[in-house]
Amino acid sequence: MTDADIWTGFDAAAARDADARIVDQFAADPDRLARMSVEAAGLYLDLSKQSWTRDAFDACLDLARAAGVEAGRARLFGGEAVNNTEGRAVLHPALRAGNDADFHALGEAVSGEVQEVRQAMATFAEAVRAGRETGATGRAFQTLVHIGIGGSDLGPRVVWDALKPLNPALDLRFVANIDPRDMAEALTDLDPETTLVVVVSKTFTTQETLANAEVAKAWLAAGLPETGRDKHFIGVTAAPDRAAAFGCGRTFGFRDWVGGRYSLWSAVSLSCVIALGPDVFDGLLAGARAMDDHFVEAPLEQNAPVLMALAQIWNVDGLNRPARTVAPYAHGLRRLAAFLQQLEMESNGKRVHRDGRPVTRQTCPVVFGEPGTNGQHAFFQQIHQGPQVVPAEFVIVAETLDGAAGAPLWSNALAQGQALMLGKTTDQARAELEAAGTAAEDIDQLAAHKTFPGNRPSTTIVMEHLTPQTLGALLALYEHKTFVEGVIWDINSFDQWGVELGKVLAKAILADVSAGAPSSGLDPSTANLLTRLMG
Ligand code: F6P
Repeated sequence: MTDADIWTGFDAAAARDADARIVDQFAADPDRLARMSVEAAGLYLDLSKQSWTRDAFDACLDLARAAGVEAGRARLFGGEAVNNTEGRAVLHPALRAGNDADFHALGEAVSGEVQEVRQAMATFAEAVRAGRETGATGRAFQTLVHIGIGGSDLGPRVVWDALKPLNPALDLRFVANIDPRDMAEALTDLDPETTLVVVVSKTFTTQETLANAEVAKAWLAAGLPETGRDKHFIGVTAAPDRAAAFGCGRTFGFRDWVGGRYSLWSAVSLSCVIALGPDVFDGLLAGARAMDDHFVEAPLEQNAPVLMALAQIWNVDGLNRPARTVAPYAHGLRRLAAFLQQLEMESNGKRVHRDGRPVTRQTCPVVFGEPGTNGQHAFFQQIHQGPQVVPAEFVIVAETLDGAAGAPLWSNALAQGQALMLGKTTDQARAELEAAGTAAEDIDQLAAHKTFPGNRPSTTIVMEHLTPQTLGALLALYEHKTFVEGVIWDINSFDQWGVELGKVLAKAILADVSAGAPSSGLDPSTANLLTRLMG
């Protein structure tokens, strides 16, 4: 089959079924709910409110089979050079595998080293938590400052936000932005004697992280004796020599087969391991491992990451809907959309195939979101009545971590999914206005405004509680979903060349600032802005 051939059934289904009404499909296919929902690793997914008919659903599954999702999955778990532009294996599942695992990256055994780092992290974390590992003046650490950006920030931040109610032994603050205010706010009220700084950077070359680490280093130097000061400065990196040269007293490592946005299962989460404890981290890994097992073992038609990926592709490519909103109905998941923006858009925002040919289909949509119910009071107006259809994803926690009832939250999520699918006809709107005693001339004017087109798709993901296990499963679900999309689109989901050009140009502009004038050859707009900003 050629590249084009594998899409034939999908395109035919899209042409035929694009206007099908979602709600009518339940009667047309009595098994729809069972067919389009799945239990996986403590999560329940309902994709029956997606826009697909049964035939379209089957066409999507045929596409997944023809695109070689199963073979792609075997290549990933087999440690082959899935990241072909950098010649690297992609083995984040190895980071959360059990003690008896035996993963190989490009043929090299890696599971032993994974266990060693995990053990070293746990030992160090326990020592810090118990006050055995102290700072320069012998006082126990009370606060961690985690410095990192992108994949070295977003994953641990989601973990911390979600699991903070589990009684952390230390406080934890994050700094990502190069704006000095971010660091200043993090350091407010902190005592250098009781503060442990964790600098997280895979490359240890990232401008923002190194600038913030310099500020933290100076802050420690101003408040601590020189002897033992490096005990306050820990590096987490795949470039330990650079971290040591920077002044980190100790480093925890991970390898180049861990992509930045897939790295939260590694030492990148050291600050969470220290604050929340190794047991909590083990629970997170166990949840992700359960999702790995599901992804490897479940048939494609009942495979949660595969179905999520197919719903995405059906919307973005089949039905031309180039955005998706994610609404977690849990305060602990308030940064989920930011995490997914990097995971999905940095992985799959690509315009060429793995071999460099231009893509001819859509790839990653714009992903955005806010916690429910906040988003409902902001951009959901557009989701309900705007002319573009934006698929929605609701993540529901039945009972919140601190035991509070989740109903006020999830009742809203259910209502949103229902409203999006059912809508409200003009006749219904008129009847309501009439029942409310509205004057006839006002009814004529208002009914159109109170009409909802409906037939707008959504996926609902449910977990009983937000625990380390369910959180791990949820984040691994999204990782594998992103991977499956990449296999079907035949793109490399594990490089990110698109972020490089801006970095290079920013350096050149800073050089112009040092030189005091825009360099020749700068375009007129940028030269003008630079001149204005230099004052
Ligand atoms: O610029 C993007 C990026 O390279 C991401 O892929 C990565 O997660 C982030 O920067 C941080 O990189 P590092 O961990 O090397 O500091």
